[in-house]
Amino acid sequence: MLTGTAQIGTMRKLSALLTSLSLVASRAFLQTSSINTKSSSSQSQQRRGPTLSSAAADRITLDKMVESLREGVYEKILVVAGAGISCSAGIPDFRTPGSGLYDNLHEYDLPYPEAIFDIDFYRKNPMPFVTLSKEIWPGVKYRPTITHCFLSLLGKRGILQRIYTQNIDGLEAIAGVNPELLVECHGNFRSSGCIDCGSSYNADDCKSSMVMQGEAPICTSCGGLVKPTIVFFGEVMPNRFSQLVHVDVASCDLVIVLGTSLLVDPVASIPNWVKSDVHRCLINRDVVGSFILNKPTDVFLEGDCDEIVRKLCQLVGWEDELDQIYSHTRATSESNKHV
Ligand SMILES: NC(=O)c1ccc[n+]([C@@H]2O[C@H](COP(=O)([O-])OP(=O)(O)OC[C@H]3O[C@@H](n4cnc5c(N)ncnc54)[C@H](O)[C@@H]3O)[C@@H](O)[C@H]2O)c1
Ligand SMILES: [Zn+2]
Repeated sequence: MLTGTAQIGTMRKLSALLTSLSLVASRAFLQTSSINTKSSSSQSQQRRGPTLSSAAADRITLDKMVESLREGVYEKILVVAGAGISCSAGIPDFRTPGSGLYDNLHEYDLPYPEAIFDIDFYRKNPMPFVTLSKEIWPGVKYRPTITHCFLSLLGKRGILQRIYTQNIDGLEAIAGVNPELLVECHGNFRSSGCIDCGSSYNADDCKSSMVMQGEAPICTSCGGLVKPTIVFFGEVMPNRFSQLVHVDVASCDLVIVLGTSLLVDPVASIPNWVKSDVHRCLINRDVVGSFILNKPTDVFLEGDCDEIVRKLCQLVGWEDELDQIYSHTRATSESNKHV
């Protein structure tokens, strides 16, 4: 089931198909929801919505999901998150045309965009990653978004099974998500080590070298290059992923997928591993992965995740709680911010 190694592009061939079919799928999902979180053009589609067939009547809808959340039916929510949840913090995602990181890497003179996270390329030329690190090192510049605070809220309510995040920005932890409930699938900046001998290296020293001096640290044991424990292409995922994912997919009762193109395995496959009757909710700008199949267990909420998450909290009655967590997070992350 798992490759154990982060692999890019296994679903890339599907992406053209997804793009061409996404409008059709979005419309189908819209028609089954009586609550609008969509654009004005979508609103008119919704008003024209058809009579539900009996099969469609059994499907999960936004209304039903909201009611279940309000009544505490879901007790073990599994979250799969990607770069889209951090876009409103100011960190670009990878693949959004125009604003995505991959369209804006010219200054690094890379042979191909993914090279910035390629271990063999780093060994030859660490500077593109060092330069990017200065930009995205957690706690330096960016603060958690409403969506990160929503994830923290699920944790505080005791209904979060686990968050599998592909993000390396550490914003879930800064938003107060209990580390036990978090799997940072592609690593984090809180530890660092040598890419050759594996010796650990003081993370503060690594930060000071990369962020302040703009250079990659050198291992004191073997002279190899050091980097934060971010999982590069060609590197093995953290053990924590394979230790927890089997149990989590077997026991969760709702999956929420946010801000990801679901193009990087194995994380992209997590929503497919849950039991067939588990409800799955996609909150994203476009329909991705197996959500394209529009299964009766799926709800697609199309648009920006902060906006949708806020609306969801309004509907469920959690908006004040969300705002409290957001204000608290902003205050603490501001006071901890240091350059
Ligand atoms: N913040 C970060 O830590 C960060 C930033 C860039 C890339 N990455 C890396 O990206 C790789 C995985 O790709 P991915 O799937 O996470 O990103 P991706 O760029 O491939 O896809 C992002 C998805 O989010 C959607 N999106 C963008 N902004 C959104 C918003 N405001 N609301 C809702 N949806 C939005 C896009 O339409 C797209 O479908 C991982 O390896 C991860 O390490 C991480
Ligand atoms: Zn070494």
